Amino acid sequence: MVGKFADAAARAVKAGFDTIQLHGAHGYLIHQFHSPGINKRDDEFGRDKAKFGVEVIKAVKAVLPPDMPLLMRVSAIEYAEYAYGLDHMLEVARAYRDAGVDMFDVSTGGEGGPAVKGKPGNYPGYQVPFARALKDALGVPVSAVGMLDDPELAEHVVASGDADLAVIGRAMLRNPYWAIDALRRLDGTTDLVATAYERGYHGHR
Ligand SMILES: Cc1cc2nc3c(=O)[nH]c(=O)nc-3n(C[C@H](O)[C@H](O)[C@H](O)COP(=O)(O)O)c2cc1C
Repeated sequence: MVGKFADAAARAVKAGFDTIQLHGAHGYLIHQFHSPGINKRDDEFGRDKAKFGVEVIKAVKAVLPPDMPLLMRVSAIEYAEYAYGLDHMLEVARAYRDAGVDMFDVSTGGEGGPAVKGKPGNYPGYQVPFARALKDALGVPVSAVGMLDDPELAEHVVASGDADLAVIGRAMLRNPYWAIDALRRLDGTTDLVATAYERGYHGHR
């Protein structure tokens, strides 16, 4: 499985992608290994919950060009009955950072089953404190995600130093021109507009 991750990353690099993000959140395989509530193995991959993820990171890093950053999405906390808390994730993420992760994309939950523990309300920026916590504890760049739809909120997340990037999901499903609209609102510019669309913004009379 470790080799398959590396092969997939090598294919993505060959296909021209600018970066690779490993999915270590939301119940995907790497998350399953580092979750004490899910990983009940009694071998070395069970005794060291970060071992599988560390091996994947090292194998993937080895096939990336030296200047290509490796990103990783993690769930800072789980919500299930067996949930791990932030301290566990910080320990795991420290091992992932040391193995080669350059930036963490900080989400939460997704391990499956009913959410019964510690789920923050669904309000704008609800996961930002977790991004800040990883950044402060590990001294590593982070991206924040979760209802950052308002460009001014997204700007605050980055400008305040809570995170280094704001990630936009559902707002871009609703409006694929979210980035252009945000730039217009914050800077008054339309720098991202494709040439063919410029008349939609300037001189259209
Ligand atoms: C239709 C849909 C599919 C998603 N699929 C994934 C996924 O495959 N992997 C993942 O990490 N997150 C997935 N997400 C979660 C988003 O990446 C993001 O973390 C979440 O929507 C919160 O950000 P937002 O409030 O900006 O949408 C999905 C979200 C939506 C709405």
